[in-house]
Amino acid sequence: MLISTILFTVASAAIFVMRSKLGLFWAGVAFFVTTVLYLMYGITPPAPGALILLYAGMAFISMLLYVSSSDQALESVWTPLKSVMVSPGKRGTLYGLLLTIPCIVAFQTYLGNLPSSDAPPRIRSVHPPPPNTIKVQSPGMAEPNVFNVVSGTSPIRELEESDPAQFAEHVARGKVVYYENCYYCHGDTLAADGHYARTVNPMPANFQDPGVLPQLTEAFLYWRVAKGGPGMPDAGGPWDSSMPAWEKFLSEEDMWNVIAFLYDYTGYKPRGAESVEGH
Ligand code: HEC
Repeated sequence: MLISTILFTVASAAIFVMRSKLGLFWAGVAFFVTTVLYLMYGITPPAPGALILLYAGMAFISMLLYVSSSDQALESVWTPLKSVMVSPGKRGTLYGLLLTIPCIVAFQTYLGNLPSSDAPPRIRSVHPPPPNTIKVQSPGMAEPNVFNVVSGTSPIRELEESDPAQFAEHVARGKVVYYENCYYCHGDTLAADGHYARTVNPMPANFQDPGVLPQLTEAFLYWRVAKGGPGMPDAGGPWDSSMPAWEKFLSEEDMWNVIAFLYDYTGYKPRGAESVEGH
């Protein structure tokens, strides 16, 4: 939709330019200004500045290509420019330009440096430092278990080497846990595209993103799964995410199982405990 309206506008501007009797220079200016104005004000929701700059740059380059495609076209653009620069009759315009252009730049710089009275944005930290220890209490447990998030490891990870068959059973159980509890937010293929994903802010974590699973230890994930959005420190604010605190519903083992499944499904390896100590 966005692309087709842009194409439409640019194409009509181009046709206008080709049919007009303005002379190529002014037609080019008109084409460029129309394109930029359209990009700035004609699109909802407004396009980000960097994108406008990119498109304006492309419009400018295509204009240059068009203009330099024949000697005649080049001449007709160059002549008015040259006459402003050298002909004595146009001194007024030249000095006008020499004054206006620096003024515009200066004014823009001034605007950019004005202090603002807006509150600074609160940036949500996606991976804030975890607490050193957490107390995990799953259903049916009389006493909470103290887990060390910094030095702790997954109790089932060692089975991957020592007893692959048993490890595979844990992963299979983790898969069941995932599709019973997690997929409607984190998605069928773990890519954060479950049917609830777009209704929550912040969005669910995307486990296919290489910035998530391989960067985190299983202990970190265990903390996140057990304590959810409500267990995030203040840096994870400004409000609690919708990630539930799964210790209220899942056994400790099932939380480890589902974590093993996340890694198994995506093929990523958990970040080693040694790299956490070096942190
Ligand atoms: C109601 C939606 C919802 C459900 C259901 C849900 N999550 Fe989440 N989850 C989220 C959201 C939203 C985030 C991102 C915000 C955050 O980090 O708290 C998240 C974050 C996470 C993270 C943190 C990833 C990181 O980068 O730190 C893990 C791990 C996680 N979820 C695992 C699970 C597991 C395992 C289940 C199922 C047992 C599950 N989630 C079910 C919404 C959900």
